[in-house]
Parts: sequence; structure tokens; C-alpha cells
Amino acid sequence: MRPRFRPGPQRASRRPAVGLAPAGTALAFEHVGMTFPDGSEVLRDLSLTVGDHDIVALVGASGSGKSTLLRIAAGLTPPTSGTVSAGPGSPALIFQDPTLLPWRTVAGNVGLFAELDGVPRAQRAGLVADALALTGLSGYEHHRPRALSGGMRMRVSLARALTARPALFLLDEPFGALDEITRQRLGDELVRLHLREGFAGLFVTHSVVEAVALARRVGVLSARSGRLVAEVEIPFDYPRTETLRYDAAFGRVARTVSEALKDSFSDRHSKTPDHPSAPDHPSAPGPPGAEHQPGSAGPAGIDDLAGVE
Ligand SMILES: Nc1ncnc2c1ncn2[C@@H]1O[C@H](COP(=O)(O)OP(=O)(O)OP(=O)(O)O)[C@@H](O)[C@H]1O
Ligand SMILES: [Mg+2]
Repeated sequence: MRPRFRPGPQRASRRPAVGLAPAGTALAFEHVGMTFPDGSEVLRDLSLTVGDHDIVALVGASGSGKSTLLRIAAGLTPPTSGTVSAGPGSPALIFQDPTLLPWRTVAGNVGLFAELDGVPRAQRAGLVADALALTGLSGYEHHRPRALSGGMRMRVSLARALTARPALFLLDEPFGALDEITRQRLGDELVRLHLREGFAGLFVTHSVVEAVALARRVGVLSARSGRLVAEVEIPFDYPRTETLRYDAAFGRVARTVSEALKDSFSDRHSKTPDHPSAPDHPSAPGPPGAEHQPGSAGPAGIDDLAGVE
């Protein structure tokens, strides 16, 4: 019997609210606005393009609308104005919570989406083996999630997403709950996977250093008015070295992003009073890793997979 399954946010399917983007574009927001039924305007006239094979990071105060924008990109929430378009196929959604099924092994979790999509067992085994190898999990096939560190659980989540060969990853503070070293390592591995597999990514983070280290471009969301107040090109070629974070040139770019982020807190285009969930002060740029400030990721609940064995 086919297992009972409610698609959670990690298996977003393309909804009518998301149009088909032109060739060369993985994701495009055009003049997107979002006002919730209670009247709160979270996004206003936001335009942003993620090219094929592009990684764009998004930073902004807590409550500035980053997760809302990702939900719109995934087709989970239609915008109230403007349009969103994406390339063919479903995007992969990755959240801070890896949402693994605790009773399944690593291989069972990684193969879950392919299994639910009816991929035959032999083909599935190949997809799982490839994804495990890509994420450094070979040898852990038979472990249960409880026997893994937080970083390894996140690898399982990435591996599971990779089995669908997505052209676009939407990542909402994926490494926000991890220690600094694991976070850096996984970020560098994500870039390595991006270079090898060719997927595009929209990556939400509270860390300016992480944004600059991983992305080709960093967008800064206004704390109050829901606008994109800056887009900063990151001038470093890939593959980037682990030590890039300590270079003076890196510090200068990170400072540009940090200053845009600070300015975003005093954005004068606000229609609404101070955002209730915005902190009083932005995170200071500081040395690499200093602005580690995870927020609420709105993770997919394990309930979304209820009934799957
Ligand atoms: N369904 C909803 N109805 C009304 N307001 C909502 C709804 N969903 C989100 N919001 C509000 O929209 C604002 C933006 O939320 P969102 O989760 O997108 O912020 P965020 O930038 O991801 O924050 P964080 O960095 O803390 O994760 C918040 O003030 C939130 O309360
Ligand atoms: Mg969020």
C-alpha cells in the first residue's frame, strides 16, 4: 500500500502562482509584494533574479520577510502582487531542521523522496549511493538519525534533496543551528556540490560572513519596509579557499554588506511602525563568524511525514 503522505515544505511542487522563467533564469521575483490578511505588509515591490548556476544569499533582520520570500519562491504562498517565475521542476527546500524520520536509517531517509515518487528499488539504490557519496555519508547507510551529529543530519537532508536532482535549492538558515566550524565546512561543501551538480541557490542566512563566503551576490532586505535595499556582487572566484574568510579583501566586502544591513534598520521607506520582531540593533560585522545569530527558521514539521514508514 502506498504510504500516507502529505507533502511537507521540503517537497514543494510547482504551483500555479509560480510561472515558468526564461532560459538562463532559475528564479525571478518581479515587483513582488506580500500583505497578509491581517494587514501586515511584509514585502514590497521586490525584484530579484537568480540565474542558472547562481548562488544568491539573502540577509535581513529577523521578521524582514526572508522565509516568506522563500515560501513564495516555492509556490507555497502566492504573493499579493507582482510575479514569481522559476525554471522547470520542483525546487529543493532545506531548513535549519533536517526533518528526518527517526525510525528510518540514513539510507532510508535519503531514499524517501525517490521512494514516494515511485522510483524502482534498483534505480533508487543507485541514487541513494550517489547522494551519500556526494555528501560524505558513505559508510553511514545503516545508522539512525539519533546516532548522528547535527552536521551529519544536515548532510542527510542535503543528500535526500540531491536524489531529486533539483535545479534550484531554497535554503532557509540551513546551518544556523550548527557550531561555527561545522557550519563553515558544510557551507564550503554546499558550494562544492553547487559547482559539481550545477544547481542554483537562494540562501537565507543571518551571518554576513557566511553570505559573502558562499554567494556570488548578496541581497539585503530592509528591516521594516520589505524592500530589497542592496545587492552586493561578491568578486571572489570559485572554488574559494577555506582561508578566504581571513583575507583583507574579504573583510572589505563583508563590511559593505554589513553596512547595507545596518542601513536597512533605518530604512526611511517604512509604512509601518517599528517591526515588533526586529531587534533594536543589527548584528555588528565583527571578525568572521562573530555575527552568528540564528533566527526562527519555520522548519518543516516531522508531522508532515506522518504515516511514512
Ligand atoms: N501567515 C502570516 N500572517 C501574518 N503575518 C505573517 C504570516 N507569516 C509571517 N508573518 C509575518 O511576516 C513577517 C516576516 O516573517 P518571516 O518569517 O518571513 O521573517 P524572516 O525574515 O524569515 O525572520 P527570521 O529571520 O526571524 O526567520 C513577520 O513579522 C511575521 O510575523
Ligand atoms: Mg525566517
